[in-house]
Amino acid sequence: MYYQINGGKKLFGEVTIGGAKNCLLPLLAVSTAIGGKVVLHDCPPMMDVLNMVALLKKLGAKVCYQDNVATIDAKDLAYFKVDRQLGGKLRGSVLFLGALLGRFKRATVPIRGGCAIGKRPIDIHISAFKKLGVEVEEGDFEVVCNAENAKGGNVCLPYPSVGATENLLSFAVLTKGRTILENVAIEPEVIALERFLVQAGAKIQGIGTNKLIVDGVKTLNSVEFRPIPDRIETATYMVACCMAQGKITLHNVCPQHVECLTKILKGATVDFCKNNLSLECHQKIKGFQVETAPYPRFATDMQSLALSLSTVAKGQSKVVEKVFENRFFNCGELAKMGAKITLSGDFATILGVDRLQGATVKCKDLRSGAGLVLAGLNAVGTTKVLDVFHVERGYCNLVKNLNLLGGEIVEIDD
Ligand code: EPZ
Repeated sequence: MYYQINGGKKLFGEVTIGGAKNCLLPLLAVSTAIGGKVVLHDCPPMMDVLNMVALLKKLGAKVCYQDNVATIDAKDLAYFKVDRQLGGKLRGSVLFLGALLGRFKRATVPIRGGCAIGKRPIDIHISAFKKLGVEVEEGDFEVVCNAENAKGGNVCLPYPSVGATENLLSFAVLTKGRTILENVAIEPEVIALERFLVQAGAKIQGIGTNKLIVDGVKTLNSVEFRPIPDRIETATYMVACCMAQGKITLHNVCPQHVECLTKILKGATVDFCKNNLSLECHQKIKGFQVETAPYPRFATDMQSLALSLSTVAKGQSKVVEKVFENRFFNCGELAKMGAKITLSGDFATILGVDRLQGATVKCKDLRSGAGLVLAGLNAVGTTKVLDVFHVERGYCNLVKNLNLLGGEIVEIDD
């Protein structure tokens, strides 16, 4: 399937942002650690979520998924081995490790999967688990762990990895004794997981900070939870409006989660009222500089969006990628659309052009795909964005919503 975009249409109207993919994936994984029922509201059926649900079912969990509500009952979980073929399709599958090990003391998970944006090793996860006494056998495609002799301890992460924090926390809450986790990630999705676990009966101190003190409990109980709004989806519509121009209102947003982006939108008016954001843009955004880093600095998942925006910003911009080593694929694709980008190692220097030109371009990963859709909204003429299955891993209703706002974009089966 590809998207065909007829660029140059201004955007006006309203969109409601859904639950965050990167919040839902760890919540779905950690459901396996819970003896009771888990009810997740606002769970949009994007491809990564559907695959996590399929993995849960393969593990033996009962899942009812209707009207964006997922109810998971993992009481009688049958397997501790995550399906290698399906799990290999998404990075989220590695998040089953901590949850399964915590509850059953055994787990096998695939170690490949997810967007091709870098090597994405799991060495930080593994060395931390080993430090807590977990026996680990690493194969080429999966890792087999045994936590029969594991207990609490002190771990300081060499880098605040989001996935490692989520995995270790999911393990520590059900592991005997006290575990102190230092230099952990403080991304909003991680904090949501901390709150979810506390609601399920976990004992965690230091919520929202980079040091967590966890006292293991024997079991976790039923919990009903709503994920945080998707900050990357929010950012996508914000940048769309800046590139196509117009006036939009986004409902169900968390203003501080998109502050790193709001700061660089010089030339647009952004207003917040409770959980609503309105953005108006009738001129070019001023050239800007961003450097990706862990939260609250500029999010790597917004980098491709910023790169697209910079191609039509006024003057020069600089985009530096410090989190993943392979997230500049779009430079070549955007150049096909007339963008003036010079790539040197981990940074790109961009000289804004008046408008991009329609072309046929290809997605390589989820966020680069979203960046190309935004470029197409700006471009003169028709843009074909190929391989959009990448985009559909993490966006629900992107095409529908952009059309509702007045963009002209159609999905075409090839
Ligand atoms: C999560 O990936 C997100 N995925 C990513 O979103 C996001 O880009 C990333 O966090 C950073 O914010 C999910 O939540 C499912 P990391 P994760 O561990 O957990 C290196 C999207 O588009 N590292 O914080 O994999 C790693 O290679 C996706 O929605 C190690 O070297 O990110 C990377 O360079 C893509 N060893 C950096 O740390 C490790 O053991 C950050 O990775 C772990 C990570």
